[in-house]
Amino acid sequence: MDKFVINGPTRLTGEVTISGAKNAAVAIIPAVILSDGICRIENIPNISDVHIITQILYALGADIKRVNLNTLEIDPRNIHTTVVPHELAKRMRASYYLIGALLGKFNKARVSMPGGCDLGIRPMDLHIKGFEALGATVKTENAMINCTADNLIGSPIYLDMVSVGATVNIMLAAVKAYGLTVIENAAKEPHIVDLANFLNSMGADIRGAGTDLIKIYGVPKLHGTNYSIIPDQIEAGTYMVAAAATNGDVLVKNVIPKHLESISAKLEEMGVQVEEYDDSIRVISNGNLRRCNIKTMPHPGFPTDMQPQLSVLLSMAEGTSIVTENVWGNRFRYIDELRRMGMKAVVDGQVAVFEGGCKLTGAPVMATDLRAGAAMVIAAMAAQGQSEIENIYHIERGYENIVEKLTALGADIKRITVPDETPKAAARVS
Ligand code: EPZ
Repeated sequence: MDKFVINGPTRLTGEVTISGAKNAAVAIIPAVILSDGICRIENIPNISDVHIITQILYALGADIKRVNLNTLEIDPRNIHTTVVPHELAKRMRASYYLIGALLGKFNKARVSMPGGCDLGIRPMDLHIKGFEALGATVKTENAMINCTADNLIGSPIYLDMVSVGATVNIMLAAVKAYGLTVIENAAKEPHIVDLANFLNSMGADIRGAGTDLIKIYGVPKLHGTNYSIIPDQIEAGTYMVAAAATNGDVLVKNVIPKHLESISAKLEEMGVQVEEYDDSIRVISNGNLRRCNIKTMPHPGFPTDMQPQLSVLLSMAEGTSIVTENVWGNRFRYIDELRRMGMKAVVDGQVAVFEGGCKLTGAPVMATDLRAGAAMVIAAMAAQGQSEIENIYHIERGYENIVEKLTALGADIKRITVPDETPKAAARVS
């Protein structure tokens, strides 16, 4: 398994260009299934989650042309099955977007239940509530979610809690349904808006994305399109926090500052200098960080996907900070790992209390999920000494060229290939 070896402390300076948004890409690529023409998608991040979702479409029969590392041309017209087997679906959570897309196009879908993950339980009750409201019959058997519908009919759907995934999946299933679908208490994340804009560029009629009330007027046909994915809000936020944690001065380019308002506000509250420009943000820190409290909330609140990264900064700030995780049931697992580098925190359910003023020191740690891994990279660059981060596959799911981007900013980070510890199979006797 590969690992990162990072020597600190380092001071990040210079410019970094943000890639396309992972959580938009993994929703937009399945949405291509709904089209009756070729879709060219640009600014796709070159990350493993995108590779996996693209492989699933290819396995279903789509013709896929990789124009370059960040551009795909996908022709869904030869898709010949609506079944996504476990061996394909198990590799990423967002595979469940195939249900909404296949149901929306073919009135049926049979997709393996997605795997769990380290954030706590990840139910799909709201997704299923939406599919059933549209007239689908949903049965779960043999860990497969089986959806069938004679016709999909638009319907009002109230989401008991804000869910990005359910909002995406209902949008995909409803876009060609007969009549009007209204999603109430919808998620408002930037990637929801990006998906709606993509679908509308194919001829859909979706209004209100980005608000908590989304209206979807069903259309009979969707045509091909050319589309460019928005920059990744969380990747940008991660580099902003990395600059702040290393007393750095970094210009984060190719961003939409409005998407980063809650992150910029928190950094400024901590005494970090944040300069906003049209499509870039400069982050300058002199190392004097003030404590603050965080409550993660759905957009436009402080994003849960930035909670581990900012918590590293809080542990370095002067004073005690309180973090309340309101979205996921188990998103403090990284703290056990970061205690090995000197983080001091007490966790009680959804709340973690961080003792500030920590002088982090290098240590071997293990990434437990994508954003926890990013937090460990930030901590290792701020720490005194050498750190090793294992299970970096988590990190590379969502951060394109992270070693190259951080090296260009002055970090001392290497990716090391570790020989597999399992005993080598006996050499084949020819
Ligand atoms: C998306 O996950 C993101 N993943 C997550 O980012 C992100 O943390 C999350 O939204 C919140 O912003 C992708 O977009 C691929 P939810 P999702 O449905 O859609 C509960 C990352 O690091 N819920 O908004 O699975 C659920 O348990 C990843 O990029 C139900 O109860 O999240 C959670 O407590 C990690 N029933 C809350 O809602 C449901 O049917 C929010 O989940 C669905 C969700």
